[in-house]
Amino acid sequence: MLKKLLSRTGYELRRSEELYLNSLRQFDYGKIFKQILYFHAQYAKIKNLSGDIVECGVGYSRTFQVLACLLRKEEHPSRVLYGFDSFEGFPEPRAEDASARNPKKGEWKVLTPEELHRILVQLRLGEEFVDARIRIVKGFFEDTLPKANLEKIALLHLDVDLYQSYKTCLECLFPKVVSGGIVLFDEYDTPNWPGAKKAIDEYFQHTSYRPQKDAESGKYFLIKT
Ligand SMILES: C[S@@+](CC[C@H](N)C(=O)[O-])C[C@H]1O[C@@H](n2cnc3c(N)ncnc32)[C@H](O)[C@@H]1O
Repeated sequence: MLKKLLSRTGYELRRSEELYLNSLRQFDYGKIFKQILYFHAQYAKIKNLSGDIVECGVGYSRTFQVLACLLRKEEHPSRVLYGFDSFEGFPEPRAEDASARNPKKGEWKVLTPEELHRILVQLRLGEEFVDARIRIVKGFFEDTLPKANLEKIALLHLDVDLYQSYKTCLECLFPKVVSGGIVLFDEYDTPNWPGAKKAIDEYFQHTSYRPQKDAESGKYFLIKT
């Protein structure tokens, strides 16, 4: 209603980019720097592998921006970076996700694909590079991942918090990770997100894969053999 009223008077209701940038400024930089170093080190391991980079769970795009910069710097001739997110926030959490954090449907509706595109262009990666080498895929994983046009994945970053989301991502994407490829789990063994560990453990229970802890960042990852 407010939007309609304002538009009648010649005004437009929009999210302020300035406010968004201010919210970014409030982040914990120590944590961010550690994350950048961690991503940089993991990215170095896929230097000689073919395959794309995939992030599920774009959120504010903090980690997606790091991946975009690494891809730009690498100057690999053909790799593509994919970002999958509903851009509508969480789906309904399941019983497996119950914790003191108490996640809710619709949480994390923080960015639109258009805003993300603008942010990437502002990173000075070059608009041509962004359009040619980065794909933003909007929709719930359950709909988008089974029909995603992905063949080989060299690096998979999963930052999806919830039980069913981790399950879907692993079922659809782990088979596409190449030998030597890396899977990064943003949450594993964290009290706020019990569903993440449950889904990851269930998916790998009949295999020899076990997530390893990176000592510096405390994050878990695994390398596909
Ligand atoms: C913790 S946030 C990601 C944070 C992000 N990596 C960053 O750097 O800001 C989790 C994201 O996963 C997305 N998500 C979780 N489950 C999903 C699903 N089933 N389908 C699509 N998106 C989902 C949410 O919309 C949210 O943006």
